[in-house]
Amino acid sequence: MSDIAKEAFDVKIAGTDQQESKTSEIEEGDPWNTIEDAFLKRRSIRKFKKKQVPAHLIRRILEVGRFAPSQGNCQPWKFVVVRDREMITEMENFCADMCRKINGPLDYTAHKKGTFARWRSESILKLFAKWQPSTVHPIPFGAVNLIAKNRFKVFHHPPTVIIPLMDTRGIGHPEVDLGIVGTNIVMAAHSLGLGTCWVGLASFLNNSPEWRERLGVEEPYSLVEAISVGYVLGKPMQNTVSRETHETLWIEDGIKDLIY
Ligand SMILES: Cc1cc2nc3c(=O)[nH]c(=O)nc-3n(C[C@H](O)[C@H](O)[C@H](O)COP(=O)(O)O)c2cc1C
Repeated sequence: MSDIAKEAFDVKIAGTDQQESKTSEIEEGDPWNTIEDAFLKRRSIRKFKKKQVPAHLIRRILEVGRFAPSQGNCQPWKFVVVRDREMITEMENFCADMCRKINGPLDYTAHKKGTFARWRSESILKLFAKWQPSTVHPIPFGAVNLIAKNRFKVFHHPPTVIIPLMDTRGIGHPEVDLGIVGTNIVMAAHSLGLGTCWVGLASFLNNSPEWRERLGVEEPYSLVEAISVGYVLGKPMQNTVSRETHETLWIEDGIKDLIY
């Protein structure tokens, strides 16, 4: 176990007792604590300074990632770190090209109403939506459309990209574990004053044998997400991002209640 890992392990044990005494001191309506505040204030960053992040900070972030919980503690991940600008640009170009390939036949708005081309596009889109409903969900599809038209970026030109690869042999739902690793990574980076952006569209790289080879993605690993990391340039694109208050079913003492 590395020194950092050992320290984190000790802190984890010490932290458990500490938490109990802290919760009893918290009154309803008290200000958020430092950790809660960090979670509430983190935003996706889509503009990065050119300056590279020191390697020791990335290693520190990965160490926090490694301590993510996972089902059965199976830790179904390993990491790839790309800090090569040319390679990041090539990754960007490849994914943007994929967006153009997908967008081309599916973007029915590019054709006039009542034309055969529009009808054909709409029909292809309907079929595609049955096969890959989450890909043509308006949000990722909107991004694909913007990227295809060169109005949005895939990775947002960061100096470093962290790719947590998913071991598909993981217990239960390894995608969940991977999401937690990513959250640890993103929050550790945020705590160090760095900006991050998850890049779901990076998964296009997983379908390319050439990119799998270049990034060392071998079976049974899968590239499902990437995280761009760097120093924040200017203000985040969306300083405040709306969050819906989905209803919560609260069950207590045999009574069911809906809270918002
Ligand atoms: C799994 C996942 C994939 C995402 N993929 C992308 C992406 O490909 N491009 C992008 O710009 N943002 C991406 N995001 C960022 C979301 O758009 C962002 O988290 C959301 O709009 C909420 O904004 P916030 O992170 O600033 O709070 C992704 C987020 C997650 C969790």
